[in-house]
Amino acid sequence: MVFTDTQTAPVKPRTARVADPCIMVIFGFSGDLTRRKLIPALYNLASQRLLSPDFAVIGLGRSPMSDDDARKKATEDFKQFASGPIDETVWNDFVQRIHYIGGDFDNPGTYEHLKEVLGQVDQDHGKHGNYFFYLATAPNFFGDIVERLANVGLMHEENGHWRRVIVEKPFGHDLDSAKALNQQLLKVASECQIYRIDHYLGKETVQNILALRFANGIFEPIWNRRYIDHVQISVVETVGVESRGGYYDNAGALRDMVPNHIMQLITLTAMEPPISFEANAVRDEQAKILHAIQPFSNEDVLSKTVRGQYGEGTVDGERVPAYRAEDGVPPDSRTETFVAMRLLIDNWRWAGVPFYLRTGKRLPGRNTHVVIQFRRAPFMLFRETKVENMMPNQLVLHIQPEEGISLRFAAKTPGPAMQLGEVNMDFAYADYFGQTPSTGYERLLHDCMIGDATLFQRADMVEAGWSIVNPVLDVWKALPPRNFPNYPSGTWGPKESEELMERDGRRWRNFEK
Ligand code: BG6
Repeated sequence: MVFTDTQTAPVKPRTARVADPCIMVIFGFSGDLTRRKLIPALYNLASQRLLSPDFAVIGLGRSPMSDDDARKKATEDFKQFASGPIDETVWNDFVQRIHYIGGDFDNPGTYEHLKEVLGQVDQDHGKHGNYFFYLATAPNFFGDIVERLANVGLMHEENGHWRRVIVEKPFGHDLDSAKALNQQLLKVASECQIYRIDHYLGKETVQNILALRFANGIFEPIWNRRYIDHVQISVVETVGVESRGGYYDNAGALRDMVPNHIMQLITLTAMEPPISFEANAVRDEQAKILHAIQPFSNEDVLSKTVRGQYGEGTVDGERVPAYRAEDGVPPDSRTETFVAMRLLIDNWRWAGVPFYLRTGKRLPGRNTHVVIQFRRAPFMLFRETKVENMMPNQLVLHIQPEEGISLRFAAKTPGPAMQLGEVNMDFAYADYFGQTPSTGYERLLHDCMIGDATLFQRADMVEAGWSIVNPVLDVWKALPPRNFPNYPSGTWGPKESEELMERDGRRWRNFEK
């Protein structure tokens, strides 16, 4: 069939290349991340034929287990966490590639043993010598594991084979600890061997921000301070801290979400076009935005940031306990579960355009989105028709759960009078591309296996992210909150979050679905 200019050819997904033959070592094999995300993601790659026939996994954890037990456990977990229908043939082939070693992460003997087993498994899988290590452990192990791997020679690249390490978040808990971790890693590995993961970059719609901006001619000319009034970024969750009270109470919403996930959304929305899609070209532009974010003074922290903690309430029709009553959380905890802030980016494109961001747990709906609000029309021709109450144009990038883009604009309502109403032009990904089973980790794992670090954080980016939030952490620590809990579960956060917008004559756009 021939498609004319006015017809649209169905879009075929790009076929990615099969990953390099390699062995993946998972530190923290028995943990939640492995069973919920990593194994289902590897299976999805296997079923799309994107793993090399010589691919293998070595799981490492404290509890002793035989290879067979590890395979049985993986099979049981997989039945629970698979992201789509299971093809038994693919799974049976995949599960045989799993091996297991028990050992303590801080015992040098574990690494000697790992080296030996890697040698054997590699022998059985084509002897390619390419290894990558996924650190799905508590963060206090990250630096030491990589040092110990290096001590037994496992980070050493020679004869064309590669060695890489994927480091999970949190990468440090403030600027100093992130710098210290970077130094520790870079002492024994080069930057191009270190893949600092942020699972937000594995989301199709997050990557699509770049496609929307740089593959279309119509958006970029208006993507600046002349046309854009402000940007809102919301990562809104209905869940509480679940079983992670111990971790979360030491982190809080700011550390947990802002220097990492939300900074990704900001940089992709605000960056200049990169000169190419080569990893460093993209990351250079992201880093420039992080450096251009106006630093918070102590006064700014008081007037431009908001923190909150949920009390008991109702979410999705169910009564839920207050944060302070959750497992692992002290009854007088002052940890924030909500944060909102107003940022400015000091460069030519964005001078004077506020970026408002907020994230919180136990809010009314699960929804992540970026709202680009445009300036109003310069002259109100329709002032007799109640149009002054109309909201300005908004382009909304829906990241999850529904993935899509919508544009809100004014249209004439039918009838003899010139009455205007708001309408939405909606695009939903699922309508065009269907839905492929995905955990969000497939692309990132595959990228690591082909050596593409574009969607991973460089050392300087992680540090720049922490530099932005560090002054806030310092002021908040010096002035502990006195009014926690300050929002009931199931509401949109503390009233100060609304006031942050109202002071500027603006308001949050809330999506409840
Ligand atoms: C994690 C945070 O990194 O991201 C969690 O530690 C948060 O607290 C989660 O719930 C949100 O991820 P997603 O993909 O559900 O938006």
